[in-house]
Amino acid sequence: MTGTLHILGVGPGDPELVTLRAARIMAAAPVFACFARRGRAGHARSIAAPHLNPAAEELRFEYPYTTDLPVDDPRYPAAMTAFYDESAAAIAAHLRASRDVALLCEGDPFLYGSAMYLFDRLRGAHPVAVTPGITAMSGCWSRAASPMVHGDDILSVLPATLPAEELAGALRRCDAAVVMKLGRNLPKLRAVLDELGLTGRAIYAERGCMEGERILPLAERDTTPAPYFALVLIPGRQGTR
Ligand SMILES: C[S@@+](CC[C@H](N)C(=O)[O-])C[C@H]1O[C@@H](n2cnc3c(N)ncnc32)[C@H](O)[C@@H]1O
Repeated sequence: MTGTLHILGVGPGDPELVTLRAARIMAAAPVFACFARRGRAGHARSIAAPHLNPAAEELRFEYPYTTDLPVDDPRYPAAMTAFYDESAAAIAAHLRASRDVALLCEGDPFLYGSAMYLFDRLRGAHPVAVTPGITAMSGCWSRAASPMVHGDDILSVLPATLPAEELAGALRRCDAAVVMKLGRNLPKLRAVLDELGLTGRAIYAERGCMEGERILPLAERDTTPAPYFALVLIPGRQGTR
């Protein structure tokens, strides 16, 4: 007998945007796990708090590095591989003891989510069930009241960590876009959008669906770096049919 690893999307921030299925699994799971930056509560953990089994054991996986080390630093891949190996081993110990584990993930687990690295490591040896979540981008475009794609519009989802030329190339090939992982990349993205004449259409969304939410036209935001929980929406054609 082995327990099941439940990988749960908990949505963009508002605990009311957790699915009924994720809430049911969290309320019953004897163990839950979450990723967090060092010294922080963990975004998914905070969203999930009202839904968790109060008697559950908590596994907390603190990233060895986040924005403090560039991803092209040679120390980064080895440290992250060891981190994910250790996190998977901690979960596997519970699964082998027939205890289900709920792994909490912001938004949807399979969209730029760390949970995918544990999914890859554990899926062969244990039952793994994935519960989708409302993504940050859909939470943000709903809060911004901004329809995004109509008809045959093409939507691209881009990480702002790409070099400026790649961002520009990808933006030229689509009608609508969401740019995630802003942080210190926002000034670079802003320069690309200015050059392509897209700034006037772009919407800046910070901490969407959560306390401290800020949503405004990108043109009205200063060009200093953004916090981690921020993205830019570029809606496609305006649907006036
Ligand atoms: C590692 S990705 C995780 C995405 C998540 N799995 C999802 O489905 O949306 C983190 C990025 O998502 C975006 N993000 C997550 N939550 C957000 C929120 N509440 N408001 C704005 N952006 C958010 C930011 O761009 C952030 O850098």
